[in-house]
Amino acid sequence: MSSSFTPFRLNTTELRNRLVRGSTAECMADSAGRVTGDLLRLYRRLAAGGVGLIVTGGAYVHPQGRGYEGCLGVHHDDLVPGLSELVKAVHQRSTPILLQLYHSGRQRRPDEGEALAPSPVPDTSTGVVPRALRASEIEELVEAFGDAAVRARRAGFDGIQVCACNGHLVHQFLSPYTNRRTDDWGGTPEKRRRFLLELTRNILERTGDGFIVAVKIAVRDHIRGGLNLPEAIDACRELDALGISALEIAAGMYESGYFIARGDIPMDVLRQLGLMDHLPTGTRISHQIMARLVASLTPKRNYLLPYARAVRKAVRTPLMVGGGIRKREVMDRIIDTGQADLITLSRPLVREPLLPERLAREERGTATCRSCNRCTILVGAGYPLRCYAGTDVSRLRRQNRRGRQGP
Ligand SMILES: Cc1cc2nc3c(=O)[nH]c(=O)nc-3n(C[C@H](O)[C@H](O)[C@H](O)COP(=O)(O)O)c2cc1C
Ligand code: SF4
Repeated sequence: MSSSFTPFRLNTTELRNRLVRGSTAECMADSAGRVTGDLLRLYRRLAAGGVGLIVTGGAYVHPQGRGYEGCLGVHHDDLVPGLSELVKAVHQRSTPILLQLYHSGRQRRPDEGEALAPSPVPDTSTGVVPRALRASEIEELVEAFGDAAVRARRAGFDGIQVCACNGHLVHQFLSPYTNRRTDDWGGTPEKRRRFLLELTRNILERTGDGFIVAVKIAVRDHIRGGLNLPEAIDACRELDALGISALEIAAGMYESGYFIARGDIPMDVLRQLGLMDHLPTGTRISHQIMARLVASLTPKRNYLLPYARAVRKAVRTPLMVGGGIRKREVMDRIIDTGQADLITLSRPLVREPLLPERLAREERGTATCRSCNRCTILVGAGYPLRCYAGTDVSRLRRQNRRGRQGP
């Protein structure tokens, strides 16, 4: 019997197996953040593939938290009927689903308008210089996360996952690199994690029993002066004490972006999309050399596992881990050795939504996703989520461009 295909109870929800579709931005919502037919098709297919639990791509909880056009929204009551359709489509297959709650903070495309953050630290990946949030605005955002969770519950979701990772707003508060405040919301590790803890407490109080409240937390920034593991573990301990339903491990932010989804860096796609055109030739060449060096020196498989092991020792909360996990044998071993309870898969299910069914049959099964990161770059540039391996990007650009900048 494969351990990955044993059931697991998350809060009061029974999962049929240990495989979780990790949150993956879809870039398929309409301009008001509403659910579209494309989103329904994507989630129907994922649910049909036999995965034990689905986490949606990040949905913005406040209009100023939308990082890119095409992002799913949960910032207004009018969005509930569409979200409810999405839940129904997935529940038809008896698959539970969590809505990921997100706010982009400073990781907002320049054409989206003013970006807000704990401190006005420029984002070198986009050139955006955010405005520092006022204390009253931070308190409003704690409420906005609670309101969004209540909407998710009304729409029928089995729970939510707070996005406290990948360099978005909640992570920006945790990190000493992006949070330079000296008031009650920054200056010490305790004050930096206050935003995450308060909004999580608010969500737990307002959603009540039987609703999954998970948190995906960054444990490292991979940036000088950034968040470190011991500080992140302390935050995990406090989340554990609040009684959350699950923790998922993440690392990296846009400025260190490669560390979020490690694999190849598709220079041809970056060139064809013109994403490096603004850089002087010398900088472009040094970027390419650095990128190749980083990609060749860092592990691309199972790269968040060491962090999961460290967090596991500190908390009792069920733990999810992903990050370059591709082989069923590895998934089984992670469960068997108690390194984590659930395995998250993002890019593998972009390429093969039906992968869980195949892995259930094949003892030595491996996902066919090659971590080429063409989808990562293209979704980031505003194209809808799908596997772009082998796609001619210059043709695609002419035919299919939504003309937007993505997550
Ligand atoms: C196209 C794309 C979009 C993503 N969007 C999100 C997101 O909205 N929220 C999030 O927490 N992680 C997001 N991630 C990160 C994944 O959930 C995951 O942590 C990462 O890709 C590593 O797992 P994998 O090797 O299974 O892909 C995204 C990754 C990709 C490739
Ligand atoms: S483009 Fe396809 S093969 Fe490449 S990382 Fe994305 S899903 Fe995997």
